[in-house]
Amino acid sequence: MKNNINFTVIENGTLIPITTRHGSYPNLMYLLKEELQLESFGECGGVGRCATCVVKTSGITGNSALKERNEPATLSKLGFEEANIRLSCQIYITTDLNDVEISILEV
Ligand code: FES
Repeated sequence: MKNNINFTVIENGTLIPITTRHGSYPNLMYLLKEELQLESFGECGGVGRCATCVVKTSGITGNSALKERNEPATLSKLGFEEANIRLSCQIYITTDLNDVEISILEV
């Protein structure tokens, strides 16, 4: 359907196609936690402090490609400076995610 947002999640080498809608979850962390039933993912509830929601992105565009608020500092503490390593709780469910690949990282 036209308003759908489609992207792929990679978890332990398995490709999982996701179809969702704008704003279907408060952010990408909640979507991943629920759809993939990830325990101990997103422990701080999405304020960008715990770094239990780290993902690697490929193909993300628009405002969603920018690290804001607590995100750069939290990732730097773990040694992640790359632009494509992100806190999934800081990425909203928008059309910026169309055709993106999201890999779950074990931190
Ligand atoms: S949920 Fe804690 S940093 Fe993302």
